[in-house]
Amino acid sequence: MCGIVGYVGKRNAKDVILDGLKRLEYRGYDSAGIALVRNGSVEIRQKVGEIRNLEELLDNESRRGISFESYTGIGHTRWATHGAPSDINAHPHADQSGTVAIVHNGIIENFVELKERLTRQYHVHFRSETDSEVIAQLIGIYMRDAESLEDAVYAATQDMTGAYAFAVISSKDPNKIVAVRKDAPLIAGIGKGENFIASDIPALLKYCKEIYLIENGEMVVVTADRIDIFDENRNPVRREVFHVTWDVDAAEKEGYPHFMLKEIYEQPKAIEETIARRLDEAGNIRLDGISLTKEDLANISRIYIVACGAAYPAGLVGKFIIEKLAKIPVEVDVASEFRYRDPLVDERTLFIAISQSGETLDTLAALRAAKAKGARVLSVVNVVGSSVARESDDVFYTWAGPEIAVASTKAYTTQLTCMYLLALHMGRTLGTISETDYHALLAALREIPGKLADYLRDVREVEALAKILYTRDQVFFIGRGLDAAVAYEGSLKLKEISYINSFAIAAGELKHGTIALMEPGTLVLCLATQDALYEKMLSNIQEIKARGAHVLTVAKAGNRAVEAQSNEVIYIPDCRDELTPLLSVVPLQLFAYDVAKERGCNIDKPKNLAKSVTVE
Ligand code: G6P
Repeated sequence: MCGIVGYVGKRNAKDVILDGLKRLEYRGYDSAGIALVRNGSVEIRQKVGEIRNLEELLDNESRRGISFESYTGIGHTRWATHGAPSDINAHPHADQSGTVAIVHNGIIENFVELKERLTRQYHVHFRSETDSEVIAQLIGIYMRDAESLEDAVYAATQDMTGAYAFAVISSKDPNKIVAVRKDAPLIAGIGKGENFIASDIPALLKYCKEIYLIENGEMVVVTADRIDIFDENRNPVRREVFHVTWDVDAAEKEGYPHFMLKEIYEQPKAIEETIARRLDEAGNIRLDGISLTKEDLANISRIYIVACGAAYPAGLVGKFIIEKLAKIPVEVDVASEFRYRDPLVDERTLFIAISQSGETLDTLAALRAAKAKGARVLSVVNVVGSSVARESDDVFYTWAGPEIAVASTKAYTTQLTCMYLLALHMGRTLGTISETDYHALLAALREIPGKLADYLRDVREVEALAKILYTRDQVFFIGRGLDAAVAYEGSLKLKEISYINSFAIAAGELKHGTIALMEPGTLVLCLATQDALYEKMLSNIQEIKARGAHVLTVAKAGNRAVEAQSNEVIYIPDCRDELTPLLSVVPLQLFAYDVAKERGCNIDKPKNLAKSVTVE
């Protein structure tokens, strides 16, 4: 979850690294730091808090005439796992001799054992509480006898267990960065007379569009003129260059106050792109690169959809729509549970992983567990070339473009879009839906981006409601069928960014416990968009209204019967029941955004969260 950047070349490394770190801040933001090789030694600056704190520290130094310039360096933005956020625990970490500095993302699982060994055998004094410091200390010890930094790094990795990506510099072997990947993302960027390393693409977009994706177990040695990749046995590896198609603008705010708002507004375009990429000239769905033949599909006895965070409610919608259209039983599970519960997976199982980043460790581990049991793996992923994508048999990219805000919006709605396309394709191939239904639903899906764009033209009512309701300390979200899935996502969005205690439940289940919490004034967001369940939902709304709840309902345009039971109603454009999740989630995203804004929260970077969770 932490962000890593490294630079070797002819520019001032500090500036390139700071710039890259700012673009990676969504990966973690409790502290940041930079290490440079300067005048024959390693120099480090680190600061707790957001990157601007580090920047201020460097600006102050430079005003006082203290120089921090070099052509080689590494930087880090942290999301704390071992050791509280503090200056001391901030990366980079140096070894005892002060000749080696490292930045690390992941967890060194045997760090306690390594720490003991280093203390006993080499009298190493550890400065920080982090697991990461053992990497620096170990490399420092091996560096005493090694001929090169890569020799020392290789020796150190033989002692370490865990999941990590780390980068190292040393004053004993200057003008070089060595980095290693094991189950955490790492890329090398190709420049002219300069080269880069990073944990993610956005860090490097300003400087290069050609990169090498480093694979698990590999070590990369980067100088200004060369990038050499080695496998886990130190054999040289030839890697194809990966061309990045995003531009810098896609990772900038473009005038919006927050990435989250920009990404909410990008949804019509993103959904359109996700659909367009999967249509042939005749307007039929084609799944290029995904080989799900009729025989393959007929052989599937069960589907597992596995995901974390916002991708999980996307899976709930997937279950509903795949079961409805393709008539295959679907189970949805959170990855951290699936991986440890010995699920019933065999060769006839289709495992669908949903992940924006493609790097979420639990999702990746669940995927590997399913694969080991013989399942076929299809992933729905946003980041091209990510670990989940690379380890899947088939990949259904979401084409949302880079999503920077920690709270997922356009990645979520494009994940839903993939679920619809997949279910339609499966249903048609298996003959479980008629040609007429296939074309009607696909045509309705293609109308969604336009409807959403219309809706987003005037959302002042949501803003006005947020201004009145933002002081509530708890909010309930209820719905039935597909609306229940959207309720989970709406509740997650609100708690993530506004820190309000929110809770989602299937409306029919309310009376079995949760209704006990309804009091005069309790705020309940009711999703009532399903024509087929409208009457049932109205009854549930009446039940909570009778207890004095403040009812804010989301309904389809025209369904005015809810007005009598609601304090306020937000209308979404009319559409088929199956497709409402693509529209009804948007006012909930906006509500969360506007409430968080009123409460003065850090919307793009909510406390304790990170965009990509690469630890268990
Ligand atoms: C983190 C993020 C969430 C995201 C979840 C899953 O918790 O804060 O926004 O939904 O990870 O991430 P993934 O990249 O696998 O979709």
